[in-house]
Amino acid sequence: MLSITSGELRALYLRFFEERGHTVIPSASLIPENDPTVLFTTAGMHPLVPYLLGAAHPAGKRLTDVQKCLRTGDIDDVGDSSHLTFFEMLGNWSLGDYFKEKAIPWSWEFLTSEQWLGIPKDKLAFSVFAGDENAPRDDASFQLWREQGVPAERIFYLPAENNWWGLPSRIGPCGPDSEMFIITDKEPCGPDCSPACSCGRYLEIWNDVFMQYNGLPDGTLVPLAKPNVDTGMGLERTLCVLTGKKSVYETDLFTPILNRIEELTGKVYDPDAETAKSFRIVADHIRTSVFIIGDPRGVTPSNVDQGYVLRRLIRRAVRHGMRLGAPEGFTAKIAQVIIEKYREPYPELGKAEGFIQEQLLLEEGRFQRTLQQGTREFEKAASRLTTGLIDGLTAFHLYDTYGFPIEITAELARERGLDVDEAGFRKHFAEHQKKSQAGAEQRFKGGLADSSDQTARLHTATHLLHAALRKTLGSEVAQRGSNITTERLRFDFSFGRKMTKDELAEAERLVNESIQADYPIDCREMTVDEAREEGAIGLFESKYGERVKVYTMGSASKEICGGPHASRTGELRSFKIQKEEASSAGVRRIRAVIGAGADA
Ligand code: ALA
Repeated sequence: MLSITSGELRALYLRFFEERGHTVIPSASLIPENDPTVLFTTAGMHPLVPYLLGAAHPAGKRLTDVQKCLRTGDIDDVGDSSHLTFFEMLGNWSLGDYFKEKAIPWSWEFLTSEQWLGIPKDKLAFSVFAGDENAPRDDASFQLWREQGVPAERIFYLPAENNWWGLPSRIGPCGPDSEMFIITDKEPCGPDCSPACSCGRYLEIWNDVFMQYNGLPDGTLVPLAKPNVDTGMGLERTLCVLTGKKSVYETDLFTPILNRIEELTGKVYDPDAETAKSFRIVADHIRTSVFIIGDPRGVTPSNVDQGYVLRRLIRRAVRHGMRLGAPEGFTAKIAQVIIEKYREPYPELGKAEGFIQEQLLLEEGRFQRTLQQGTREFEKAASRLTTGLIDGLTAFHLYDTYGFPIEITAELARERGLDVDEAGFRKHFAEHQKKSQAGAEQRFKGGLADSSDQTARLHTATHLLHAALRKTLGSEVAQRGSNITTERLRFDFSFGRKMTKDELAEAERLVNESIQADYPIDCREMTVDEAREEGAIGLFESKYGERVKVYTMGSASKEICGGPHASRTGELRSFKIQKEEASSAGVRRIRAVIGAGADA
């Protein structure tokens, strides 16, 4: 058992790798810039993807960091003693520099040396990749652990399900990994007990990923010219295991938060009591919300994308806070101690303190106003039931009128032994979305953006490109056709000759400028004549009917269109023209990409 604090563990880790030639880089934003397929940074890898694919990193080939991460996939499990939505990941990176031969001995040294963590060697177990049709068995890693003196029976060959790592999209850098586990006092659960089972005998604390491949969208794995190392050690979990605490909530990261909830509610946190769940949900969700709002690319509560995740976190925290008897405005008071705890490692929180508290109070207020009424409405619906199922329309009504995210309705139902027709809810939700643009709900499951969002963004890029071409080449340029897949856009326009390099660069620059400006995208319905008067471009034919939708993107573009579009231009991240060619007489064709594809 070690007595070590969160601050000491961060510092120790960074120093160990700094002494071994790594540059300490700051945590990147929680909102990924290089990966439009996820809403949040789920691992240290997102911000480094371009470098893992071969681009030169300004800080060199050996990096170390503490990355803010957010995973909402198992949000419903928060409330037990181990799940968290936000966590910090300690990591060291080799960008085409060293590989297993250094990563494994260093991991061993950091874990076992008295100078560092000093974990007893016989309390550690390891897993390595067992091999499959995609990639061979990782005998090299097995051998390297053996060379550190680890007996073979404590090194487990496990399949891809356990020992393969990459982004949730399965696209981009990936490869086999080797995980490190603390062996607890729990007896093996059976003859096949291994780190792959969840009986609690083995607790994972660190993962060394050996990135050797680039996963293409069609599933093909292409070997990387230079393999990388990406390692990840979850701060909260490791701290908990090292200090012998029963749960992450007992570590120094959470005790001040729980103390504050005790003060505010007059209730005592007892990990074995029924109320523990509410304490943990409030602590976890407000902590995560503080980091989302306080992020340099900060987000505020809304009904789409990251904003909806945030809304859902705050509302669930409010509901559980009220259960504990927390007074109005408690979210901001809890935020205070969280900001205090993290002020030093994350100065952005201190800078945004006022803004964070204001946003929490606003959202808490919005929800408080309808919470009681909505709960009464839920009770009424529940008492009318002849089956054990809350139907989709009722769930949608609770969302639409009382601001109950579906998870809150589902949670209320679970507490009463009822089910909710979530598919029915989603049907009503989708119909509603069609009318009002966006698609956040589907994106929740695992935090993945679905392909329709990417299509909407590419559609937005088409408008920006159209406007940029008119600026660059003249207002005689008009759209002749457009075709969008999830990967790219294709835009045909009237123009009599090949574009020059400079013209292409200028059009691309203008689009990127509009993306940087992060214009909100406004959609209004009006008559064709009104649209013409407003100076909207686009097809004025009658196929649009009497009234048309006009999408405005700041000062960059105003165009008649059926939608759907992104909600802000910043969602596109970046834009790149890949090709310009002739399409037919007097018509040119441009292919272009956005987001990660445009950065590569
Ligand atoms: N990126 C690796 C992980 O998240 C280290 O486990």
